[in-house]
Amino acid sequence: MEARHQFLSLSFFSILLFLVMGATRAQMPGFVSLDCGGKDNFTDDLGLEWTPDDHLIYGQGTNISVANETRKQYQTLRFFPADNRKYCYTLSVISRTRYLIRATFLYGNFDKNNVYPKFDISLGATHWATIVISDANTIEIQELIFLALDPTISVCLSNATTGQPFISTLELRQFNGSVYLTQYENQFYLSTAARINFGADSEDPVRYPDDPFDRIWESDSLKKANYLVDVARGTEKISTQMPINVDVSERPPQKVMQTAVVGRNGSLTYRMNLDGFPGFGWAFTYFAEIEDFGPTETRKFRLVLPGLPDLSKPAVNIQENAQGKYRMYEPGFYNISLPFVLSFRFGKTSDSSLGPLLNAMEINRYLKKSDGSLDGSVIASAVYLYPSADWAQEGGDPCLPVPWSWVQCNSDPQPRIVKIKLSGKNLTGSILSDLTKLSGLVELWLDGNSLTGPIPDFTGCVDLEIIHLENNQLTGELPSSLADLPNLRELYLQNNKLSGTVPSGLLDKNLVLNYTGNINLHKGDKRGSCNKSIIGSSVGAAALLIATIASYLLLKRGKKKFSKQDQFEHTMPAQEAAHCFTLSELEDATRKFERKVGSGGYGVVYYGRLKEGKEIAVKVMINNSLQGKQQFSNEVTLLSRIHHRNLVQFLGYCQEEEKSILVYEFMHNGTLKEQLCGPQTNEQSINWINRLEIAEDAAKGVEYLHTGCIPSVVHRDLKTSNILLDKNMRAKVSDFGLSKLAVDEASHVSSIVRGTLGYLDPEYYISQQFTDKSDVYSFGVILLQLISGKEAISNESFGVNCRNIVQWAKLHIENGDIQAIIDPSLHGEYDIQSMWKIAEKALMCVQPHGSMRPSISEVIKDIQDAMSIERGAQAVRGGNSDEIAINSIHSSLNMRSSRDIGASEHYLSIDESIARPTAR
Ligand SMILES: *[C@@H]1O[C@H](CO)[C@@H](O)[C@H](O)[C@H]1NC(C)=O
Ligand SMILES: *[C@@H]1O[C@H](CO)[C@@H](O)[C@H](O)[C@H]1NC(C)=O
Ligand SMILES: *[C@@H]1O[C@H](CO)[C@@H](O)[C@H](O)[C@H]1NC(C)=O
Ligand SMILES: *[C@@H]1O[C@H](CO)[C@@H](O)[C@H](O)[C@H]1NC(C)=O
Ligand SMILES: *[C@@H]1O[C@H](CO)[C@@H](O)[C@H](O)[C@H]1NC(C)=O
Ligand SMILES: *[C@@H]1O[C@H](CO)[C@@H](O)[C@H](O)[C@H]1NC(C)=O
Ligand SMILES: *[C@@H]1O[C@H](CO)[C@@H](O)[C@H](O)[C@H]1NC(C)=O
Repeated sequence: MEARHQFLSLSFFSILLFLVMGATRAQMPGFVSLDCGGKDNFTDDLGLEWTPDDHLIYGQGTNISVANETRKQYQTLRFFPADNRKYCYTLSVISRTRYLIRATFLYGNFDKNNVYPKFDISLGATHWATIVISDANTIEIQELIFLALDPTISVCLSNATTGQPFISTLELRQFNGSVYLTQYENQFYLSTAARINFGADSEDPVRYPDDPFDRIWESDSLKKANYLVDVARGTEKISTQMPINVDVSERPPQKVMQTAVVGRNGSLTYRMNLDGFPGFGWAFTYFAEIEDFGPTETRKFRLVLPGLPDLSKPAVNIQENAQGKYRMYEPGFYNISLPFVLSFRFGKTSDSSLGPLLNAMEINRYLKKSDGSLDGSVIASAVYLYPSADWAQEGGDPCLPVPWSWVQCNSDPQPRIVKIKLSGKNLTGSILSDLTKLSGLVELWLDGNSLTGPIPDFTGCVDLEIIHLENNQLTGELPSSLADLPNLRELYLQNNKLSGTVPSGLLDKNLVLNYTGNINLHKGDKRGSCNKSIIGSSVGAAALLIATIASYLLLKRGKKKFSKQDQFEHTMPAQEAAHCFTLSELEDATRKFERKVGSGGYGVVYYGRLKEGKEIAVKVMINNSLQGKQQFSNEVTLLSRIHHRNLVQFLGYCQEEEKSILVYEFMHNGTLKEQLCGPQTNEQSINWINRLEIAEDAAKGVEYLHTGCIPSVVHRDLKTSNILLDKNMRAKVSDFGLSKLAVDEASHVSSIVRGTLGYLDPEYYISQQFTDKSDVYSFGVILLQLISGKEAISNESFGVNCRNIVQWAKLHIENGDIQAIIDPSLHGEYDIQSMWKIAEKALMCVQPHGSMRPSISEVIKDIQDAMSIERGAQAVRGGNSDEIAINSIHSSLNMRSSRDIGASEHYLSIDESIARPTAR
């Protein structure tokens, strides 16, 4: 519950930030104009409303004075210490919306040093640009166009190589519609290299209010180094007062389109530097025919790029392409490789009477986004709880491009936090349980604070070596799980209020351990090391095995010595050997196999009730060959070792009279498949938060198979019919561990291949190998089913030529049209961001190559994020669903092309699961 509370808080965090930074007196929705170092609100000559950045606790504002620069926002700047930290601005955005962010820098010799600063700026975890000042009186401008994926963004300054980092303005401009939509936008930002207004009537740029998005269209008559030189003779400026229809993708302003250059001698040529290139870029030209000419005249021309003859093939005929005069035509390249020095020419075709015409042009470079630290969201929710502490306001990614001052990270491409040092920071309250989710943590320093409450369970932080908790007010017993941390070397607990006994596991360990100054904490009598909590903990099978063996030995050595022996006997059978049922016992329980509740590739499942009243699911295996039997007992041994809250409990087996039978706990609400697309569709369907809970439960079960078992277990046949639901609609995964059995059987006896059509990893066709990433693929399909309520494979559901949920969903999600795939029976009652989170993760899971898919643990993290978003939204919704229903009116399906990825020659068993609903 506590974790959920904190996740919930995270979305309030964003709301808070919105209040801080978003609530400007904005002239346009989605405009933020920060006057860095400024003190007052003001409106400039363009009508843009500026706000000071005076809420920032870091850095220092100062005044500058630059000749001929009268704009108020350039009279001030904010500068930061030249240290190895980063200094960040955090801005609210609307996620799934595109923005332009612009940072400008006017040095103005603010430090009276004439040392031109050089430093880096980053957007989130991504290195954006290195700012190199080369003239005290020239404004440096950096622009990025990006698709917001989170509710906030952060722009950070760091890595001062010379001088002190500083910033003059930070401007955020929101786009609408599909302006700058590219298929790469989830992985790349667009960094502006050139946006040129040809034929401009002055050197001034065109921007707001002529451009409603406040892009800056530079004049082609501007004078600067290697900017539009080598102009062909006969180049002439033209302009018109006629209105121009600019209602095409990128919507350049009419004022820009009303001017142009024409090549009277048949050519337009230019050369210019492209900052940031060579690289891959997005390059578009904007044409509108604005010259009057007679019916016998024609204007046709081609683009010529040196060394790229293929690009010159299509000819432009503006009037024809735009279907009329004073209308826009926007040809370009979504992905083109360009050099730093770009020379280009437009040349008229031989059958054209007029030379080429050009109104505007825009080139952006693709900037690869960094994924950021894997611990980003966990640490953000922890930091949120200290809104007034300065260490909690560092902003941006905890690790990239440089870590927060109190954090150390490893050097992985997606770093993990390895050290937290919050000694003497006046922390109060209990130790944040979120810290236990930092799975890469090696050192934790929380000493010298006023922390209260118990020490949480650090079982998940297997790399922990050093823990400093001394000089706090911690209470409660020492968790014995500390002894299970394999690498723990130093544990400091002195001067707290801990009580109880020190677990003998800790005393036995080779460890620097100091627990003096805890009056009620005593050295134990070695009882602690074999209590239930060790056996039951989820340290993974290795620790589990050791614990089991240890308790076994202790048991054998003398039961008399232990008062808690009953407890051992209670837990041992489940841990150690499977229970062997007799056939007659099971015949009684099932009334001679009377009630069939499921069937599938392995066999038939019957309902049963044991004498003592426990309901069971009895699975009678089909295959009964000799090898099958041998495998059966091996698998039974394996199964009996796998225990997890989110795995259907294996109760025992029976091997008698040529029958191989497995006995499981009975699950009352049947399979997820039945719940999602069963016949009872008109009953109320499972709501979104329940679906997320089911996804979380199932993913945790799979995670345990992948990471908690040694050797790890690949399920190989995850699907909605293998996810069972209990009385409370919490999910458990079934049919795990049978996998090997089935395949080996198959190779000897039958031709049944494990896996199910629609869920099967496409990579399996190539490698014939199942990996944990094959399970992730199947899980991605399940996520898509939870979103859409559809079957994985269907001849009818997915439109023409599409039978497969993956290709269907992918097409819509990548087009940004998530509404088209959302289950109508959710009646719009969900938060769209929560939905997006799952949809995007699902797409990652069904990537064609295993290496590109996330681990199941990463998937869990996103599911939990989606849950906290949804819970936050539910709280806000508070029962009124009218507005939401309007927002989620489904857009029409629009299928473009399809390929049947999932179909194959293999026959795949369609396995039904082991249970059906009744009451326990
Ligand atoms: C500037 O405007 C905002 C929003 O109207 C307001 O909250 C803030 O107090 C103003 N700041 C100053 C320095 O006047
Ligand atoms: C900057 O200029 C403003 C107004 O001219 C003045 O009030 C302020 O004290 C100056 N700040 C510094 C640091 O010189
Ligand atoms: C400032 O403007 C004046 C008049 O417009 C001009 O003569 C002078 O050269 C400009 N100075 C600079 C540094 O641009
Ligand atoms: C800091 O800047 C220097 C020079 O620009 C660069 O070589 C270095 O990689 C940067 N360091 C980081 C951590 O980005
Ligand atoms: C996008 O913004 C432009 C300019 O403000 C406006 O004309 C257009 O109607 C908007 N389009 C949509 C889809 O909101
Ligand atoms: C520690 O926190 C308390 C309560 O929030 C506050 O009164 C005190 O000034 C803080 N001390 C330091 C050194 O920050
Ligand atoms: C344990 O901590 C106490 C209090 O900080 C210190 O006085 C003592 O020397 C420490 N003992 C060891 C063995 O380090």
